[in-house]
Amino acid sequence: MTKHKSYKIGVIGGAGYVGLVTSVGLASIGHNVLSQDLNLNRINLLKSGKSEVYEEGLENILSDLITQKLINFTHNIEQTISHSDVIFVAVGTPSLADGRADMSQIISVAEKLRDLIDHHTIVVVKSTVPVGAIEIIQDILSERLTIGEDFDVVSNPEFLREGSGLVDFYNPSRIIIGSNTDFARKSLKEIYQPLIQRDYKVSNPFSIKNQIIEILLTDPVSAQMIKYASNAFLATRISYINEIAGISEKVGGNISDIIYGIGLDPRIGSDYLKPGIGFGGPCLDKDLRALITLSEENYFDSVMLNGVLRRNDLQLQEVINKINFVLGSSLYKHKISILGLAFKEGTNDVRHSLSIRLAKFLIEQGAIVTGHDILAAKEAGEMEDKLIVSDNLNDVLNQAEIIIILNSEKIYSQIDWSIISPKTYIIDTRGIVNIDELKKYSIEYDILGTK
Ligand code: UGA
Repeated sequence: MTKHKSYKIGVIGGAGYVGLVTSVGLASIGHNVLSQDLNLNRINLLKSGKSEVYEEGLENILSDLITQKLINFTHNIEQTISHSDVIFVAVGTPSLADGRADMSQIISVAEKLRDLIDHHTIVVVKSTVPVGAIEIIQDILSERLTIGEDFDVVSNPEFLREGSGLVDFYNPSRIIIGSNTDFARKSLKEIYQPLIQRDYKVSNPFSIKNQIIEILLTDPVSAQMIKYASNAFLATRISYINEIAGISEKVGGNISDIIYGIGLDPRIGSDYLKPGIGFGGPCLDKDLRALITLSEENYFDSVMLNGVLRRNDLQLQEVINKINFVLGSSLYKHKISILGLAFKEGTNDVRHSLSIRLAKFLIEQGAIVTGHDILAAKEAGEMEDKLIVSDNLNDVLNQAEIIIILNSEKIYSQIDWSIISPKTYIIDTRGIVNIDELKKYSIEYDILGTK
């Protein structure tokens, strides 16, 4: 291994999804990381090598790093700021009711940095903050400090998917460095150098892909726009295919064949064209709304983006219509099972999960709703107390009048339908069930996008 410069790095918001993957990723490529978070429970767990946030392979790497003293966790922000030459800010920026991002956590961190920085520090903004926020952070720090002399601010957006965050950290599609100063650009390039040169060791399951990782240097506004536009584009693809699925269903098409056929065009490809209940989670919807708000604030009518959002809102209703079609308009005392409670497969995150939104609606209509998730049953039960949850699939499959598949978890495509009552009706929003098996056992079904 070549000797790379090791940086003293602090991560603020280090126990959240983005902060934790960033902390572990940076430490594993040779930096000395102190990761800070206000959530004391999570910090104490992390110190013992355990994580409340589920990320594939994370705990293995974490315990190696703790043993090698390359990473440490703290509750103390003062200690983190004095430890670090570079601070990554990964605190949350949730959506406010009007679609704007809530900047309060970012502002409070900027005020702490303003008061506590005592040596030159590069502040790297990982959180997805509204365009213009980098200037706000600079302004706050400039109340006591001098830009360029005491600090630099960089926008370095993340493109990590929850659940496969480490895979994305080690194999980034690109690294965007949005900064106006050469010093900050050079330092950020050095920080990512071991990654670019594939010169680090991590324990399995992360095979190092032999890909060229492009570093793109931009101004901070463009860096932020790249992040927003990327998430909005992914959301657009999902709403697009959900709309095509709706049309296909009406006219008698088969959505799997249609997606395959569309994806064969190399200009289009097949990624992010899986229909379903819509895009959930803490990112796509929030970032799309923030981009729409930004365009409104700038007197620009974003017709397309509004359409993407509208289709996503309607998508839940499509699933409810299917349920009503089978059970009638009154759902009182009807037994409905939901497979997939997290906002997608491979994560235990139930924030902004459309499955939970659906469950809540059905419960409000008087239905008895049981839900299954291999990773998020506990979290879902805590969020919606009238939802009966289990991580045992058979418990959930039996006795339901309708089973609704919402996530494309592999075990749902492998269900043994012979044990299910033929009176059960299956609604598959992901197109993953084995139709021949359902037919074999005379089980009625509805596949979203296919007549
Ligand atoms: C998303 C982006 O994919 C990441 O690149 C980005 O870094 C992240 O947001 C972020 O801004 O932090 P994530 O929210 O973890 O990542 O989830 P995705 O895997 O993109 O899925 C989002 C939603 O879209 C899920 O509800 C998923 O089920 C849905 N989806 C995704 C579909 O319905 N169809 C698809 O084809 C793909």
